[in-house]
Amino acid sequence: MLDRLREIGEAAREAFSSATDEKSLEDARVAYLGRKSELNRISRGLKDLDPEERRRVGRATNDLKKELAALCEEARERMAEGARRTGALDLTLPGRVPWVGRRHVLIRTLERLEEIFRTLGFEVALGPHIEDDFHNFDALNIPPDHPARDMHDTFFVEGGRLLRTHTSPVQIRVMQSRRPPIRIIAPGRVYRNEASDASHSSEFYQLEGLYVDRNVRVGELKGVLTKFLHELYGQDVGVRFRAGFFPFTEPSTEVDLQCRVCRGRGCPVCKGTGWVELLGAGMVDPRVFEAVGYDPDVYTGYAFGLGVDRISMMMTGTDDIRLFLENDLRFLDQV
Ligand code: DAH
Repeated sequence: MLDRLREIGEAAREAFSSATDEKSLEDARVAYLGRKSELNRISRGLKDLDPEERRRVGRATNDLKKELAALCEEARERMAEGARRTGALDLTLPGRVPWVGRRHVLIRTLERLEEIFRTLGFEVALGPHIEDDFHNFDALNIPPDHPARDMHDTFFVEGGRLLRTHTSPVQIRVMQSRRPPIRIIAPGRVYRNEASDASHSSEFYQLEGLYVDRNVRVGELKGVLTKFLHELYGQDVGVRFRAGFFPFTEPSTEVDLQCRVCRGRGCPVCKGTGWVELLGAGMVDPRVFEAVGYDPDVYTGYAFGLGVDRISMMMTGTDDIRLFLENDLRFLDQV
């Protein structure tokens, strides 16, 4: 029996070392290690041998099986290495695309807005997210009993301070810290204590704009905002200015964009009207100039505020504002 094992061993070594392709290797594997191989038959017959013989043959059989399995594996690696070296790899197989991260869609939108406004001569100004009543309301001509406060459901924090409900307080801070001419945009996150739905969120982004100098006129405001929207959405997009009201501007206007989700036909995002309100704007109210110590007889200016999330929604055809903050990569990968 041991002699027979030796013979099998020799034949098998020869077969594994001379195998040149996958087929001959597989044939050798089946012949010497397969279920129907002689080696396997010997293993199965071990139980019929007497104990002494069983121990010796058993050990020799196992050693041989291990050796042959290793030889088989070696031969397989030799072939793979050969294939790599001769270029016999299937280069038409689709590759694995590495997953590459990128900046969030809202940040990319903000960067795009900043780029457009920079070319129009605006510089970026930033302000604190935790504000005081004066900058967020009073200085913007929203006294404590003003109904506009109802529209700004506010999160209050310790010490009577609050989370800013809009980016307009940055106007006040900039005007307090320098003299005209001023031409700034103030992008950033704002907070409202309200229930969220497809078009409302308790945190969202705004971008504020302010231009103050001598002889600033409504015509320039209209021109700049129209130019901005055409840069962003293309020359052919519909833009309309409606009369509006804001405590800090007089006169005031609300600017609508033809809905980009349904292209004006009417959908849930535009509530069936074909138009989406994107901007509030107007000429800076003299009371605001007084609050920051500017002479309203000398200076005029315009201001505007826009909802960045709305702009992102219109740019990407997204119909639910909440998707922006849910951090679901299946969504973020697509926009
Ligand atoms: N602060 C306003 C809001 O949050 C938006 C706004 C409207 C800003 C008109 C302005 C403006 O500067 O002129 O609803």
